[in-house]
Amino acid sequence: MMNLILVGPPGSGKGTQAKMLVDKYNIPQISTGDILREAVKEGSPLGKQAKDFMDKGALLPDEVVIGIIEERLKKPDCKGGFILDGFPRTVAQAEALGAILDKMDLKIEYLINIEIDDEELLKRLTGRRTCRKCGKGYHVVFDPPKNKDVCNKCKGELYQRDDDKEDTIKSRLKVYHQQTAPVVEFYQKKNTSRAINGLGKIDEVFQRITDIIERG
Ligand code: AP5
Ligand code: MG
Repeated sequence: MMNLILVGPPGSGKGTQAKMLVDKYNIPQISTGDILREAVKEGSPLGKQAKDFMDKGALLPDEVVIGIIEERLKKPDCKGGFILDGFPRTVAQAEALGAILDKMDLKIEYLINIEIDDEELLKRLTGRRTCRKCGKGYHVVFDPPKNKDVCNKCKGELYQRDDDKEDTIKSRLKVYHQQTAPVVEFYQKKNTSRAINGLGKIDEVFQRITDIIERG
């Protein structure tokens, strides 16, 4: 049973690392960003509400994302553990998560905090491409696909996220420092927070994360 939180600024590698953890440990990735982008694509009421916030690089209201997570954690695939990617992002979300998990008699083993400076993030986000079909992430320079704009795994088309424009990236970084950084302190007090260096090759960062999972 392994319940993890991946936290880190936009572009730190949460999604990239979460997908590798899914393959290694066979537990689901729960990404609020992915869930919201899916809703935007479907044009559901949630998606219509989410789009404005996301395009501005602002967070959705806490109660909206808390509701999404509460439903998602009840699904049977979470029974053997889960990886939260992009949630909680405010102290209020962290408190609500604690209450939800208490009710389910579950707890977070580790919050893994991927540390990295803003300069590197801008390079990563402006070059990011994502598969429309399976969601796998790429980077035009750091992790290019074998064929331009085609997913190695499923041959889906690669696209650039709407919020990966320089202005929006800057807003997302600001929001991270103001609203999400305090979440790390929240888990530090509970002694479940572990910081790792987010710089280096994707495999090197992955090794740092699995070291924590396997050795504490
Ligand atoms: P979300 O989708 O969570 O975006 P984010 O936090 O800004 O993070 P990203 O997905 O941009 O980065 P990542 O850390 O996953 O990096 P990745 O692995 O892709 O949220 C989007 C929006 O949804 C929010 O702005 C908000 O509006 C809303 N939202 C979501 N959750 C919410 C919540 N809880 N509450 C309220 N609102 C919420 O990597 C980035 C790039 O770098 C890729 O190209 C990758 O190939 C490359 N890369 C990765 N690792 C390396 C490496 N080691 N070296 C070189 N390149 C690398
Ligand atoms: Mg992501």
